[in-house]
Amino acid sequence: LNTLVQTDVSSVQISDINVNNPALFRDDNVHAYFKRLREEDPVHFYADSKNPYWSITKYEDIVAIDSNHRAFSSQGTTVIEDDFMSGGPVEAGVEMASFIMMDPPKHDEHRKVVSPAVAPANLLRLEPLIRSRVRKVLDDLPIGEEFDWVPRVSVELTTQMLATLFDFPFEERSKLTFWSNVATGIPGDGLVESWEHRNEVLREMSSYFRRMWRERQNSDAPDLLSMLARSPYTAHMSEQEFVGTLVLLIVGGNDTTRNSMAGGALAFNDFPAEWGKLKANPALLSSAIPEIVRWQSPIIYQRRTASEDIDFGGKTIRKGDRVAMWYLSGNRDGNAIDRPDEFIVNRERPRQHLSFGFGIHRCVGNRLAELQLHILWDEALKRFSRIEVTGHPERLYSTIIRGFVSLPVKLHA
Ligand code: HEM
Repeated sequence: LNTLVQTDVSSVQISDINVNNPALFRDDNVHAYFKRLREEDPVHFYADSKNPYWSITKYEDIVAIDSNHRAFSSQGTTVIEDDFMSGGPVEAGVEMASFIMMDPPKHDEHRKVVSPAVAPANLLRLEPLIRSRVRKVLDDLPIGEEFDWVPRVSVELTTQMLATLFDFPFEERSKLTFWSNVATGIPGDGLVESWEHRNEVLREMSSYFRRMWRERQNSDAPDLLSMLARSPYTAHMSEQEFVGTLVLLIVGGNDTTRNSMAGGALAFNDFPAEWGKLKANPALLSSAIPEIVRWQSPIIYQRRTASEDIDFGGKTIRKGDRVAMWYLSGNRDGNAIDRPDEFIVNRERPRQHLSFGFGIHRCVGNRLAELQLHILWDEALKRFSRIEVTGHPERLYSTIIRGFVSLPVKLHA
């Protein structure tokens, strides 16, 4: 797998380019590969693999595929490897059914249950609590001393925010991160010992949530769990769907927002003039936040499966083929985005990006994510003159989540 990374991309045969290689993202040198694909073979088939797949790398093509859910289905999985995150053998226990892996009409029914809980009006009710927790975390950080931004800020804040969102017992909040990691884990990853172990943890999570669910059926509180518990739609959910929906919310709100927090810190370090613009005019945060999300692209791609033969971009995609929409690449497509390789906090159309996807599956939590990031950077701007990255960022070995394992920083008063 690692061999491609060592090779200069210009000397690789186009048909040999396989961007589904986690080392390319760990080393952050995938951009040259995407550029070549966009320029030479924007609808690219990689055949030489257990899971052959199409790569869609241009902005407009990704929009076209993501908008056409009839021809490009989400049913069953949204990653290239058919068996990844399948939940293991069905007979082993908990199978999850989340609406990100469903097509209409079921997808739409499930999404309707969740949407009001993360709509702007409801988020306003949560803002004061989120803000007070962000202030506490930032006030406890050392000034002028090196520390790792990932556990102390990104992980801590996203975990706290999830607990706030669910009104989950605050002292037990690390359970949420643990469940999220187990739900997306596979045996042998250092956390999950076996499918059985994973199912055991997920069953424990399920019974914990079901208890909270019952307790909140008559609550009119603004937290997500109460909102779901009193929704008339949830009555129709099976237990698998119930668990799947909660896991989707935990996972959806966890790695993504977390990595945008670290991605933002790195971007401000690499483009100090942009930090300067915000210091001078904090109102620019409203365009800086979507720019951070574009720049980071925390979800690298989503897969669809062709439900019919279809001609696309001069190629014929066959029924059953895997089609990967590389959002990270679309976000760096110069035909759609001006100066795409620069981080610019005052872009004219900052929301023109693909980090939240497009079409019927477009991220339901996008406003919540933006709110969390807005509060973080608003409070950080008030406190620090500069966030200096003091060492090499260690990136995640993954083709799905573009993230950080660690980011050493030093805060300046
Ligand atoms: C910066 C942070 C985030 C990013 C980059 C992100 C990205 C995405 C992407 C790319 C998709 C799939 C879109 C598609 O297939 O077209 C998605 C779907 C989803 N996201 Fe997010 N997300 C973020 C934050 C959140 C948060 C905070 C939540 C929690 C409420 C959340 C919940 C979901 C759910 C439930 C879906 C499935 C929607 C559907 O299938 O209809 N996300 N997100």
